[in-house]
Amino acid sequence: MLERIKEMLDEVAHLSASNAEEIEALRIKYLSKKGEITALMNDFRNVPAEQKKEVGIKINELKQRALDVINGLRQSLAQTDGEETDIDITRTAYPTPLGTRHPLTIVKNEIIDIFSRLGFSLAEGPEVEDDWHVFSSMNFADDHPARDMQDTFFVEAHPDIILRTHTSSVQARVMEHQQPPIRVICPGRVYRNEAISARAHCFFHQVEGLYVDTDVSFTDLMQVLLLFAKEMFGEDTQIRMRPSYFPFTEPSAEMDVSCTLCKGKGCNMCKGSGWLEILGCGMVHPNVLELNGIDSTKYKGYAFGMGIERIANLKYQVKDLRLFSENDMRFLKEFEAAN
Ligand code: DAH
Repeated sequence: MLERIKEMLDEVAHLSASNAEEIEALRIKYLSKKGEITALMNDFRNVPAEQKKEVGIKINELKQRALDVINGLRQSLAQTDGEETDIDITRTAYPTPLGTRHPLTIVKNEIIDIFSRLGFSLAEGPEVEDDWHVFSSMNFADDHPARDMQDTFFVEAHPDIILRTHTSSVQARVMEHQQPPIRVICPGRVYRNEAISARAHCFFHQVEGLYVDTDVSFTDLMQVLLLFAKEMFGEDTQIRMRPSYFPFTEPSAEMDVSCTLCKGKGCNMCKGSGWLEILGCGMVHPNVLELNGIDSTKYKGYAFGMGIERIANLKYQVKDLRLFSENDMRFLKEFEAAN
């Protein structure tokens, strides 16, 4: 009897079936009233008394094993059945619509990329700033018109806390923590209290550049900006500097690039002049270095600041500034190829 049970234990361990009928046939074969295991159990009464214990344990084990195997077969059949009806793994996936990068992000990344190849690293500062970082540390006189309510958004109840009007504030944020050599590029959003129109918005984006070291000259500044202009607008792009004024630079200049549309011949976009203004720049004012803890007898610097919308407009001829913040999919989709 023990021999027979052992054989059957082995037999039921290897049962297989490919459908519900076959599983039912196995159940009948082993476990039904006339099944083989049931027959063994009926035989139990003929087992000699001294073997009863051992045989009893083994028969129960066999019955349990057969039940487990048959239930296991049922379960795996149910699973494959489910897969067959619900999921077709060979079917082509639904196309997932991919978003596109915002044109301002594309241009910002391009600017960062060009300057990082020149050794500039990235720096960022807060959009909600204090007067010190936006104005005072940048050498704005107390009565400078840029502090006027006309331009600056104040955080109500905190006249010292404002929305930054330019990314020059990040210059101060960097200098207060770092001694020269400093070579940073600072992209970010800025805010000005302007009526929204096709040509002005109450927020826009700038990239600030700052270089402080021993032996920095205006020629270095021009060289870096010429390289930037060529990378951004094409190898044949030319630049020119016009004297200007900013409180934080001396001397200061505004830089033009040769018109990206007519290449300098004169057209509607450049109003016949052949030139387009793209940024402000200059040698960092010694007061700015001193106000920010840098020895102006030892170090010099240059700085520049440009509007990202402005650069994007010149590259892509976007006629209305408002398009950049309206999230109109038809507009954003046009930049798919530039991604
Ligand atoms: N902060 C200036 C603005 O908002 C731009 C600018 C001009 C930044 C000259 C500079 C600079 O760093 O040197 O219009």
